Amino acid sequence: MTEPLVKMRGITKRFGGVTALDNVDLDAQAGEVLAIVGDNGAGKSTLIKVLTGVYQATSGEMFLDGQPISFSSHADAIQHGIDAVYQTLALADHLDPAANMFLGNELTKTIMGVTVLDNKRMRTETERVLMERLGVQLKSLDAPTESLSGGQRQAVAIARAVYHDGLRVLVMDEPTAALGPQETARTLKLIKTLKEQGLAVILISHSLDDVFDVSDRIHVQRRGRCVGVVKTKESTTQDVLGLIVGAEEAA
Ligand SMILES: Nc1ncnc2c1ncn2[C@@H]1O[C@H](COP(=O)(O)OP(=O)(O)OP(=O)(O)O)[C@@H](O)[C@H]1O
Ligand SMILES: [Mg+2]
Repeated sequence: MTEPLVKMRGITKRFGGVTALDNVDLDAQAGEVLAIVGDNGAGKSTLIKVLTGVYQATSGEMFLDGQPISFSSHADAIQHGIDAVYQTLALADHLDPAANMFLGNELTKTIMGVTVLDNKRMRTETERVLMERLGVQLKSLDAPTESLSGGQRQAVAIARAVYHDGLRVLVMDEPTAALGPQETARTLKLIKTLKEQGLAVILISHSLDDVFDVSDRIHVQRRGRCVGVVKTKESTTQDVLGLIVGAEEAA
């Protein structure tokens, strides 16, 4: 293996008396999909919240391209090219997709010395990113985001993340949990597209079907610890389930 793009070493995270993460290592390569699986409370979300700067680890180290990194906030992680889309998407439902995509980073133009929103460019940019990067075309860019399907909303959220040119690592926490079969298939295709563009995609999912469909490697969390990392092609669902529940419980 080449030097991982993302390296987490010995990550421990405590919330008061609760040890959510206990000495966890994680590697993610550019151009691969790394799945993180595990039972409820296994520490999956906490692990990626540490990676994306939402939480600070109690102890441990992180490296990006071999350089030590530490983030004081999620914005700080985004600056370093690491972003996440969550199932509970932070989209403003009453705004159209372009407004959502540029929320807080609006494009502007100056007309006779006055700075105004450049709505036209925000729309064309949104259309371009959705099509060029994600292969997604929305029927209408005028409708409020709340009228879109779950999968389309997700595409808008991902487009917002990938619009940032420096994006190298995209974390997705249960992206298909609320989606029907067709939209799930579209989201999985989109994940493959992003991987082909050289991103490291880290996918948290309870669906082993999805995980076996798109991932290259599977990192298994159990009770706050990493209990195994397997190559997807060389593993079966049974192997992974065994790791998730633990050999002693499975026996
Ligand atoms: N902000 C917090 N404060 C206190 N405890 C927390 C906090 N966040 C997570 N925990 C605890 O840390 C442990 C790991 O939680 P985490 O949300 O990372 O699990 P998960 O693997 O994402 O589970 P799920 O599959 O249900 O999403 C749990 O015991 C949880 O209760
Ligand atoms: Mg979670």
